[in-house]
Formats: sequence, C-alpha cells, structure tokens
Amino acid sequence: MTIHSSDRPSWAEPYKIKTVELIRMTTREEREQAIREAGYNTFLIKSRDVYIDLLTDSGTSAMSDRQWAGMMVGDEAYSGSENFYNLQNAVSEYYGYKYLVPTHQGRGAENLLSQIMIKDGDYVPGNMYFTTTRLHQELAGGTFVDVIIDEAHDAHNRHPFKGNVDIEKLDRLVQEVGAERIPYISLEGNVNMAGGQPFSMANLKELNRYCRKHDIPIMLDATRTIENAWFIREREEGYANKSLRSILREICDLTDGATMSAKKDLLVNIGGFFACNDETVFRKAQNMVVVYEGLHTYGGLAGRDMEAMALGIREAVMEDHQASRIGQVRYLGDMLRKAGIPIVNPIGSHAIFLNAREFLPHVDQDDYPAQTLAAELYLEAGIRSMERGNVSAGRDPETGKNRRPALELVRLTLPRRVYTQAHMDVVAESVLRVFERRESIKGLKMTYEPEYLRFFQARFAPLP
Ligand code: F0G
Repeated sequence: MTIHSSDRPSWAEPYKIKTVELIRMTTREEREQAIREAGYNTFLIKSRDVYIDLLTDSGTSAMSDRQWAGMMVGDEAYSGSENFYNLQNAVSEYYGYKYLVPTHQGRGAENLLSQIMIKDGDYVPGNMYFTTTRLHQELAGGTFVDVIIDEAHDAHNRHPFKGNVDIEKLDRLVQEVGAERIPYISLEGNVNMAGGQPFSMANLKELNRYCRKHDIPIMLDATRTIENAWFIREREEGYANKSLRSILREICDLTDGATMSAKKDLLVNIGGFFACNDETVFRKAQNMVVVYEGLHTYGGLAGRDMEAMALGIREAVMEDHQASRIGQVRYLGDMLRKAGIPIVNPIGSHAIFLNAREFLPHVDQDDYPAQTLAAELYLEAGIRSMERGNVSAGRDPETGKNRRPALELVRLTLPRRVYTQAHMDVVAESVLRVFERRESIKGLKMTYEPEYLRFFQARFAPLP
C-alpha cells in the first residue's frame, strides 16, 4: 500500500461537517442594487449579499476542530509566546528554513524582504508578477522583470509546468544589467496570475545551478507551494512515489528563503511569515519587523493565530486533504470545459480562470471584459469572483497606460474545505447562463482609480 491519493476512489472530502454557516440567496433586484453600490467591483460587495463566495482562497478556508482547539491554547504573551516556538518548529520541520520571522500576512513578509534586499535601481526577476509582491519591489526602488516561460501567457497552451522560469530570459537580464544589480529572483509556486500553474523540480534545479553560479539568491513565494508539490508528483518523472511533504522540502532546500501568505496552503484565516537561511538577512528582518508588524516572536499575530498556523502546516501536507482540494477544483473545471466555456488550461489547483477575452470577444480590453464578466456573474447568481486582467495589472509606471496583459481572466477561487459538490454544480450552471447571453453584455468604464493596487477599490459604471 502506498500513501497516495490514487488509492482513493474519489476526491470525497476527508472530513465531516461539525458547524455550518448559513448563507443567503438574494433577489435579482437586490443584486442589481448591491453591484451598483459596489461600483461594479466585486471587492466592494458586502459579504452578506454574496451567495457563493469565490473571490479568493485567501483567509477563507475552514479551520479544523484541532485548529480551533489550538486557538484556545494561545499564549498571548507579548514576548516569547509558546505558540511562536510551535510555529518555528513546524516551519523548520516541513519547510526546512533555519530562521523564521512571523508577519501578519504575506505582504508583511514581502515588505521585509523587499526593503532588506532591494536597492534603488535594482532589477527583480520573477516567474510572472503578483500584485502585492511587485508593488513592494517597486516601492523599494526595484523594477520587476517577468522571466516566466512564454507558454504561461497563453491560456490555451497545455504545457504541464507553465510556472517554469525561462533561464534564457533570466540570463539575458543578467547579461544586460549584471548579477550585482539583481538582489534575488522571486519564484512563485503555482503561479497565481498565470492560472495557478506550477514550476517543475527539474526547472528549479536548473535555476538553482544558474543562480549558484551567479550568486543570486532564490526567494520562494511559498504561498501555494504544497499545491505545486502535488503537480510535481503527478506530472514529473521520479516523483510518483514521493510524499507531498518530501517534495515540499526538496523545493525549499533548493531555495534561500521564502515569503509566505499562510492564508492559502496553510488553512488559516490570517498569518504569514518570512523565513531564510542567511543569518544577516534574518537579523535585519527580525529588526525591521518590530517597526512594521510587532515583536519578532509574534509579528502582528496573536499567539492563537500562530498555533492555528503551526497546526495548519501539518494538515496542509496531508495527502487526502490535497486530493480533495485539487479534485474539487478539477470537478468544477471539467464541468465548465465540457459545456464549452473558455477557461485557462491546464486547470490549476486553487481556482478556475475564465478566459474573459474569449468569453466577451466583442468587449475591448480597455472596457475591462474580465471586470465586466465578474459583475455579470454576481448579477446572475450572487456568485462572487475576482478580476485578474487589465484592472489588476495596473498602469505601466513609464507610459502611464493600462498594461493590457495577455491574460484577461476572471478567477473562480475555491476556499479550502468550505463548499460542497452541489455548490460547484450551481456555479457551473450560473456561468453557463451568463455565457448563453454573452452577446448582449457590454463593458465598463472606470470612474474612480486609486493609486496603488487599483483593483481593490476602483469603481466602474456600465457603458451605454
Ligand atoms: N503571493 C501570492 C502568490 C498571493 O496569491 C498573495 C495573495 C500574496 C503573495 C500576498 O499575501 O494577501 O497574505 O498579503 N493573494 C490573495 C489572492 C490576495 O486572492 O490571490 P497576503
């Protein structure tokens, strides 16, 4: 007998439900009012007006009874909380990094990393941008450079590892600006903006060899790396019989440090950390965290939050948990695909990405097709999704123009352990209904645009 999910006949949930949260279906009139008041931005809709919430998998997971029990043993000491040491042990056991600094969430860790390592005029290569990650790099004086393989920008390409780094693109940057102006490469597991696409171990090994040679550290965005490990096992030769836990560790051992939003893989509602192996970097992070987050043994978290995270790490590497997680995402994706809905392929681990460019081909990208589609899906059925296209990509700091990214997507993101198969059926049926009336859908114009991370707070109005 092996430890693998393939032993299981289905992706059925490896838990039973002990507590439920009631949700509310609204009328069309109520939704029309709610979306208008929200400026056609799903981020601004009140949660009480949402029926099925697929905005994000961030901080929205259901904790287990053990995690809730862990909340009760929170040691709320200002300094040296017992739960900090439990977290430190779990991170060192499963991720293997020597040093740990807790932060309130991922972007807190990104701030530390960027401020410590990036100097004005530096270049930070990465396998596609993430919104908060790139902004912190820019605020620290760096310029983000996309070095993901070209296949990642093509919603149809079925490359099994669209999260891979194109080493030639990286080398071109190194030749152009010099390795000394590259403080690190930022490597994301299951690349969110590409549709939740993994990198392969072979690619990471090659990257590691290259970076060792040029003395460039590899900093992992570990947010969804356990889910990335799942795909390595499924698709890469030599990994079929390895545990998720050992693959995760192998990934981390090939990198120099990590930022983590624990709100995803790690099954908590809040939390994150910065981890690394270099003592000098650690000392700086430990010093800086007291300025922005809190003392270095809590970093903006309550003791109970750290305990829930420590337990979450152990649950997140459980084989049946991930089988069910990824199985549910595929179940939804397969239904949509069979119905002829354009989605990003291959299906990733945390979400289904609707290809708004093809869903609404008649809407110009500067009339925000993905934003429009997200609003329409809410109007149709009270399902909340997220724009990941021209609004999220923002403006080019040089030209001031919309970046008009190749991928214009709507993300249907699945919280972990929250919704059932019946909910997935409702989602698929609702998307299909919007698809059937797609030709009558018009775009949006932006009426308010905040300076930073505009997608969170921008407001829109329907085009006539
Ligand atoms: N890195 C990745 C890959 C992320 O997906 C996120 C957050 C962060 C960093 C930042 O972490 O939110 O804890 O500060 N992604 C959320 C999402 C917001 O919906 O995809 P954070």
